Amino acid sequence: MKTGKMKNLVVLSGAGMSAESGIRTFRDMGGLWEEYDVTEVASLQAWEKDRDLVLRFYNERRKQLLLCKPNKGHYGLAELEKYFKVTIITQNVDDLHERAGSSEVFHLHGELKKARSTVDENLIYDIDGWELKKGDKCERGLQLRPHVVWFGEAVPTIEKASEICRTADIFVVIGTSLNVYPAAGLINYVPQNIPIFLIDPNEVNTPSRDVKFIKEKAGVGVEKLIDILKRVK
Ligand code: OAD
Repeated sequence: MKTGKMKNLVVLSGAGMSAESGIRTFRDMGGLWEEYDVTEVASLQAWEKDRDLVLRFYNERRKQLLLCKPNKGHYGLAELEKYFKVTIITQNVDDLHERAGSSEVFHLHGELKKARSTVDENLIYDIDGWELKKGDKCERGLQLRPHVVWFGEAVPTIEKASEICRTADIFVVIGTSLNVYPAAGLINYVPQNIPIFLIDPNEVNTPSRDVKFIKEKAGVGVEKLIDILKRVK
């Protein structure tokens, strides 16, 4: 192993990362957005129209998450911290990267196990168990909402995430269809001439960059990635 400063390995993960943990993706066959109309459950309009429905949708997701465990892919990324300075930028609202032991996890679209105030976005609370209810209030006395970014809302952490991408020596994309912006645009901040690996069992369109495609599910894909990286480290 090379001594001296560790290289920065930056990962952008999406729903496919957690598929083998039993969490449904959004746009695959049988994906969540096939069953639900995204604007009916994951938008500010939905929240204004039917809070019960929105709370129920996220309560179901949270209930399911409590039963899930990290998979081999999550654990493999945590193991890579032995060799690299790993930063994970995830679009996922689950906490499986953290539970697998990754120490730098940056959530772009929020966190399912947290709630936040509807009047002050800086008032964020852990949810105890699976349920966020109507009547659960922040310290200023107003209803709490899921701490997730909804469609039509800005992604407040995107600038910080693009800064992280600029520092990458190696960039890895795992389990995202790269359909949702601004997250999908992060690849454009990655320096030219550094290797970009993409792990996905299906073809993914990355118009702007050449990638080394590992056509596998996250578990096996991360294992193969580790083999490759151990040779170049
Ligand atoms: P998608 O559902 O759009 O894409 C999932 C990707 O994972 C696809 O490219 C699949 O081929 C791939 N995939 C499926 N099974 C896999 C496996 N076992 N291992 C690896 N890859 C696998 O999910 P995202 O790109 O994450 O936003 O979606 C982005 C955002 O859209 C989400 O964060 C969510 C959603 O609407 C919000 O809720 C704000």
